[in-house]
Order: sequence, then C-alpha cells, then structure tokens
Amino acid sequence: MNVFVTGGAGYIGSICTEELLNAGHAVTVYDNLTEGHRSAVDPRAKFLLAKPEQEGDILNAVKSAKPDAIMHFAANALVGESMTNPKKYFHNNLVNALKLADAAVDCGVKKFVLVPPAPPTARRIACR
Ligand SMILES: NC(=O)c1ccc[n+]([C@@H]2O[C@H](COP(=O)([O-])OP(=O)(O)OC[C@H]3O[C@@H](n4cnc5c(N)ncnc54)[C@H](O)[C@@H]3O)[C@@H](O)[C@H]2O)c1
Repeated sequence: MNVFVTGGAGYIGSICTEELLNAGHAVTVYDNLTEGHRSAVDPRAKFLLAKPEQEGDILNAVKSAKPDAIMHFAANALVGESMTNPKKYFHNNLVNALKLADAAVDCGVKKFVLVPPAPPTARRIACR
C-alpha cells in the first residue's frame, strides 16, 4: 500500500513510517519540521517539506503522492503552549486537519487514520 504519513518526522509518525516500510509499504512523509527532525525520517521514505499555510499545499502533496491511505499525526502537541497560545492549536490541529480531510476526499483516498491530539491538550482546547 502507498501511505501518506503526516507528521512523519515526529515521535510517533517517524516510528510508524519505519514500521510501514519494514512491512513492505511505500511511504510519503509530509512534515513541516516545526517540531520534528528530518534525520528522524527513514531514508526509504519520500519526504515532502510541508507548507500547510500555503494555499493548495496539502492538496497538491496528496495529489502528487497518490496514496491509498493517509495516517495523520501532524499536530502541535505541547500541553503548556496550548494554554498560552490556543489559536495556534485551533489553527494547526483543526483547520489544517480539515484541509487534509478535504484533500483526501478530493483525491479519492478511502482510508484515513486520524490520530487525535493527546487527550489533555484536546480537553483544554475545548474548554477555552
Ligand atoms: N506522544 C504521545 O505520547 C501522544 C499520545 C497521545 C496522542 N498523541 C498525539 O499524536 C500526534 C503526534 O504526536 P507526537 O508525540 O509524535 O508529536 P511530535 O511533535 O513529535 O510530532 C508531530 C509532527 O508533526 C509536524 N507538524 C506539526 N504540524 C504540522 C503540519 N501542519 N503539517 C505538517 N507537519 C506538521 C511536526 O513538525 C512534528 O514532526 C499528536 O496529535 C499528539 O497529540 C501523542
């Protein structure tokens, strides 16, 4: 299967990428490296430097990767910062996730694994 992994340079996404590759899948990693590290991405994966704020970047990335499945790990996940800068978290974790969901629909990707932000973060954001 051809899998598009967002946040694939981060903690969970990079391990998932490696496991997918070990299992024989092809992986495209889409990560803006705000928190992750390029060196954490398995060299067998294709890497796309994400610019999710740019109009059409997410859609174009999904279009070019032609994935069978999307696994979405890209998010800001720092609980403390989510309290001091909630708008950043709404925007990145919700708005950009919706853009990705739209891209999946537009590109006919039928398998989508959404990893929700860690429960404390989500709960705090919801209370704001
Ligand atoms: N680590 C945990 O124990 C844990 C537990 C439960 C849930 N989660 C959730 O899993 C997800 C991943 O967690 P993690 O620990 O791997 O975080 P992480 O910060 O290590 O990885 C997130 C990655 O996403 C990238 N990123 C952020 N916004 C992006 C965007 N808009 N487009 C492309 N790339 C973007 C970052 O550069 C980073 O590499 C988060 O939603 C987190 O809340 C994590």
